[in-house]
Amino acid sequence: MTDTKQLFIEADQTQLFQNWDGLSREDQQTLLSNLEQISSKRAPAKLLEDCQNAIKFSQANSSNDAVVDVQPLPHTSYESLIGNGDKEDEYHQVGLEAIGKGEVAVILMAGGQGTRLGSSQPKGCYDIGLPSKKSLFQIQAEKLIRLQEMVKVNKVEIPWYIMTSGPTRAATEAYFQEHDYFGLSKRQITFFNQGTLPAFDLTGEHFLMKDPVSLSQSPDGNGGLYRAIKENGLIEDFDKRGVKHVYMYCVDNVLSKMADPVFIGFAIKHGFELATKAVRKRDAHESVGLIATKNSKPCVIEYSEISNELAEAEDEEGLLKLRAGNIVNHYYLVDLLKRDLGQWCETMPYHIAKKKIPAYDSATGKYTKPTEPNGIKLEQFIFDVFETVPLDKFGCLEVDRSKEFSPLKNGPGSNNDNPETSRLAYLRLGTSWLKDAGAIVKDGVLVEVSNKLSYGGENLSQFKGQVFDKNGTTLEK
Ligand code: UTP
Repeated sequence: MTDTKQLFIEADQTQLFQNWDGLSREDQQTLLSNLEQISSKRAPAKLLEDCQNAIKFSQANSSNDAVVDVQPLPHTSYESLIGNGDKEDEYHQVGLEAIGKGEVAVILMAGGQGTRLGSSQPKGCYDIGLPSKKSLFQIQAEKLIRLQEMVKVNKVEIPWYIMTSGPTRAATEAYFQEHDYFGLSKRQITFFNQGTLPAFDLTGEHFLMKDPVSLSQSPDGNGGLYRAIKENGLIEDFDKRGVKHVYMYCVDNVLSKMADPVFIGFAIKHGFELATKAVRKRDAHESVGLIATKNSKPCVIEYSEISNELAEAEDEEGLLKLRAGNIVNHYYLVDLLKRDLGQWCETMPYHIAKKKIPAYDSATGKYTKPTEPNGIKLEQFIFDVFETVPLDKFGCLEVDRSKEFSPLKNGPGSNNDNPETSRLAYLRLGTSWLKDAGAIVKDGVLVEVSNKLSYGGENLSQFKGQVFDKNGTTLEK
């Protein structure tokens, strides 16, 4: 018996070989080589142990008997941009200077499977219905192009690292190639893959098969970013390019401010090693993760983890005490990554997600497409490392939701966070910039302002006094 087969049998995974004799020689080899790819990264027994630990961890968390003290971040870690224009300008200058020195890189997380959206393409290729028909990737690329122009002192190419996964890699790379990198230089873009993990049955004791020759696998969650940074040598690349600050964002937010100078300036000015943006919670019961402290350590706490009383508590200004809604938009100091990344990869917990996972049963030769959850996927959460950062090195910047956050999660016609809400948020923001610049936009009219023309509302004075009375207009550079 081969070593690989032996390893899986010793880990009690005989279900994978129920039909071994019925497989052709070639299929037997394919199965073994697929299994070896998995076991070469982590022994099957270790993967099963991780799953058992994750099940226990989720049970311990849901029993809620540990005493936890949840508080808002202290003022030294928390600042709002809302009504704080002077600070915004100050941070903007600091951030732009760092970009000009070539010290800022962008990491995009685009490895998710976008199951709720239900598109066959990666999410970044999605056309949210703008008059220009631009995809999310194109919009993001154009923001970088404009930002590079805004840095007047030097010609800079902001490095853009795009994290994909098995399911999204090939299509993402092909999409960028087909569109000639949207006008960016090919050398500033690096694709890298996050890891995948096998899926388990509901007991967590067995791997699920996808077909006769492979296990069912899925990306290891947004927390897989850290291992992916490590395993793909990004830190070495940062050093080569002189990168000191990293801006990280999610592919599905059409309003994300690529390499946001304000956010970077905020972190630099305060000496934060890790910072995160937040939007103000809409109301006490909006179901959004909250950036807060747990037993005096920075954390993201799920809405379901806090009592009604705490969710509704107000501060002396009459604002919700816990109002920092998490939008998964981070700043990392490269020195922090150099110091702590290895440790994070070793110690981050896995979380379980019970899912409907199409599976193959090698005993019966049947495929199932379950209607109820039949298995477990393991995921890591990107914010689980927050607690390792000292509070005085952790910052949170509250930003205006209408300017910075409109995620694309669900398909057309769904209740919220869908292509229509993304389209509207994008058009409304561009239109508000035009109005601020003195253009006359008739009521009900929405204009698309290309980010190649304006990154954040600047550069639009040429439209002062111009009348816009038709929907469907795109202002291009
Ligand atoms: P979501 O958690 O909303 O997942 O990802 P998703 O894949 O986009 O959508 P669903 O849940 O399957 O419907 C938020 C961001 O995190 C990235 C996504 O690409 C998106 O930018 N992500 C998520 C990863 O890069 N890898 C993962 O394993 C999970």
